[in-house]
Amino acid sequence: MARVFSGARPTGRQHLGNYLGAIQNYVKLQEEHDCFYCVVDIHALTTLEETRELQGNIHEMVLDWLAAGMDPHKSTMFVQSHVPEVMELYTLLSMVTPLGWLLRVPTFKEKARQQPENVNYGLVGYPVLMASDIVLYKGEMVPVGEDQLPHLELTREIVRRFNSIFGPTFPEPKALLTETPLVLGTDRQKMSKSLNNHVELAATLEETTERVKRMITDPDRPYRNQPGHPDNCNVYTLEHYFAPDHLERVYKECTTATLGCVENKTFLAAKINGALAPFRERRRELASNNGFVREVLGDGASRASDIARETLKEVKERMNLQ
Ligand code: TRP
Repeated sequence: MARVFSGARPTGRQHLGNYLGAIQNYVKLQEEHDCFYCVVDIHALTTLEETRELQGNIHEMVLDWLAAGMDPHKSTMFVQSHVPEVMELYTLLSMVTPLGWLLRVPTFKEKARQQPENVNYGLVGYPVLMASDIVLYKGEMVPVGEDQLPHLELTREIVRRFNSIFGPTFPEPKALLTETPLVLGTDRQKMSKSLNNHVELAATLEETTERVKRMITDPDRPYRNQPGHPDNCNVYTLEHYFAPDHLERVYKECTTATLGCVENKTFLAAKINGALAPFRERRRELASNNGFVREVLGDGASRASDIARETLKEVKERMNLQ
């Protein structure tokens, strides 16, 4: 089975965008691949000002993963810092990574703009740490969204460089581009926790309905009696996932002004609540099982450590460090 590696920042409770963009795909991949799913807490430190919520965020995210069907018997789930070998490899790979490559990375430039008061050294090294994650486990396929492609290209360049200097050691990992819709939040910007425009998977029925009802729909339909444009409506986008059997009807009724936005949102909210009911039930059960998340992450770290130690030994031999 080919090895899949993916990392996710510990952002706490996951939302619909996380589910449709990543988690759903993680669940599918574990059926036919040897999957490693890593909570990248060290990466999170590159943008955090304080870490009070870090442990809680890791716990909540992994609960969501498990409730959504990521299965510890099929996938290895672990926390990045629990396998400290990654930081050693990070130092070693940083020696074969030209600074110029890192300064050109789009996400670095963007973060430097977003947090000019905190352009730390770790932020520049972010892609080297990501490369270390992947190659420490000799990952062959990396499910990522489009925004991560430059990082993955850099990983491949680091691998090529390392292999050409020290001999073939790592496979060149390939991106598995996750085809996902752009899931917009209530304000029509990309759904994200930091914008507080999201719908949490673990939200209550009432919260879900309240958030969905708040969604801005087609901006070119100011009045109920005017026809709408479903293709420019986030509610309609979400209905592709939560009400696939109703697309034709909604399209027709919206474009003929038979269906109003409020009514359509009430409909979508009910569909989301219906679809997520089993997830929410499982999550409650898992959450009441004290220590379960810790156990899963402990097993994951132990499995990951075995591979990490081996890879690092090989790397050091190649580099004549021992
Ligand atoms: N940079 C990724 C993100 O922000 C997270 C990440 C860290 C990752 N290490 C990884 C993704 C390794 C894939 C593989 O989403």
